[in-house]
Order: sequence, then structure tokens, then C-alpha cells
Amino acid sequence: MIETKNIAARRETKTLQVASSISKMKEIAESLRRQNLTIGFVPTMGCLHGGHLRLIKKSLEFCDRTVVSIFVNPTQFGRDEDLDSYPRQLEDDIEKLEATAADILFHPGAEEMYPQNYKTHVQVQDISEYLCGKNRDGFFIGVATVVLKLFNIVRPHRAFFGEKDWQQLAVIEAMVEDLNLDVAVVRVPLVREPDGLAMSSRNRYLSPQQRQTALSLSRSLREARDNIRRGTTSAKVISDAIQRCLLEKEGCEIDYIAICDPESFRAKEQIRGRTLIAIAAKVGVARLIDNCIVEENECSE
Ligand code: PAF
Repeated sequence: MIETKNIAARRETKTLQVASSISKMKEIAESLRRQNLTIGFVPTMGCLHGGHLRLIKKSLEFCDRTVVSIFVNPTQFGRDEDLDSYPRQLEDDIEKLEATAADILFHPGAEEMYPQNYKTHVQVQDISEYLCGKNRDGFFIGVATVVLKLFNIVRPHRAFFGEKDWQQLAVIEAMVEDLNLDVAVVRVPLVREPDGLAMSSRNRYLSPQQRQTALSLSRSLREARDNIRRGTTSAKVISDAIQRCLLEKEGCEIDYIAICDPESFRAKEQIRGRTLIAIAAKVGVARLIDNCIVEENECSE
């Protein structure tokens, strides 16, 4: 309650500072650090939705200043993916940021982030090779590279990421640990629309009919969890049921259904212990992902 009041008071008195160049952002970060203020960071590709707003809220609760970056990172899009059509709506995003009481928007240009002679890329091995890494060539290299660059520019004490992108979070945590980065990665639970659809910038690609089809992702996860609670432990049985649910309505193209260890991403044959169930599927042009964790005590022996 006290926190909420503080945020409301800050919202009334603050204006959003916008840094469009790396040097400006570095200058701001340096000044905040000199004043011993903690920097919270929420990296995004814009087109802000409730999931992003939840991350910003968390950062506002735990940090003195909150930086949000909006950068549609070209290196994490494959050749046949939606880089050019990815939704961009800066003015709308700025309005949303102003309403949240975020302090600083970092909005660099692609030419400055990746000048012509750009050469360096970060690869987190092993865990990047499963699930989304299998069919999205170079995706996690693009994510790790841009996140490391952003960390070096923004110099956050804490960085906030959503668990909808479970594997992305694991890749970033591994990078932070392996490269001894001085930033705490904070996990924030996935946020859903009232109808169950996991919030995503790509949801806006969905027609009303496609949206109905897209709901089968969250529905199939709910059913999987119910089946596991009732005693099913075979990953194949659960995976087949998810597949049936996804294919029930026309227009869902499955990329993967994974039932695996939530840290190593190795597939499980039996659902025992903490288990990640993750799905990726295309509905129309929207590539959607969703996941849930099944805990030990939910599984019957
Ligand atoms: O999750 C995202 O929006 C992006 O992958 C991120 C972390 C902002 C890097 O571009």
C-alpha cells in the first residue's frame, strides 16, 4: 500500500527523460551511480503491454530510478521473420511510460547500436540450442548480444525480465553468471489477458478468429496441469493431449511442445519434480509462446 502510494506520488511529480543516444544514456547512468541511486532496468522492444507494465512496476518498487529501453533489435530476427513489420508505436509507448512513472526511456537507433563494422556477438552455449533456439537460427545470440550491450550502457543494479520468455531468461542468467556481470536478474511471472492469452506484442497481429485459435495455447497448458494433477506422469501422453488441443481449431501451426527440465531444457519422459511445459506455435503470422511450471507436489506418484 505504501509502495503504491509512493509510485502514485512519483507519477504526479515526474517527467520522463528520453535518451536517444548511447552517450546520453551513459551520462545519465553515470550521474545516477554517482548519487548512489539504484538503477532498475526493463529492456523491451516497445509496443508496451500489461506484461511490460508489470516489469516496470516491479522495478519502481525495488529501485530508485527505472530505465526502460525500447529497441527493436535486428540481430534477434531471422531472415524470414517479422523485423520490418514488428509493431512500432513510440508515441503511444511514451504515453504509457509517463503513466507508469518510469524515469528514463532509452531509445537508441539501430545504426548506433550496430554500426557498419560491428563484429562482436555473444553466444550462450547448450541451453540456447533447445526449444526456441532450435528453429530460430541465431535468435539467442542476438538476444544475449543486445542485452549485454544494453547492460553496459544502462549499468543497472537490477534488470527485470518476464517468465513468458522462460528460455530467454535462463540464457540471460547464464550470461550474467558466466561473464561475472554486476547485475541482479529479477524474474517476474507471466501476465495473461483476462481470457488466458499470454500477453505479447505480437497478439495484435491476431484477427478475432485467430485469437480464438490462439487461446488453445493457454487452454492446453491448463488441461495438461489438470491431467498431471489427476496422476498422469507420461510426458508423451501429456504432449499428445496438448497437440490435440492445439490442432482442434484450424490455423495453428505447432513449432514445438516441450516437456523438460526448467534449467537444462533436457526433455523428460516422466513428469517428476519441477517441470517446464513450453509451447511455441504460429497462428496466422503471429509466433506465440506460452509455458507453465509443474511443481513436484502437483504430480501424483
Ligand atoms: O524480450 C524482449 O523483448 C527482447 O528479447 C529483449 C530482451 C528486449 C532483447 O531485445
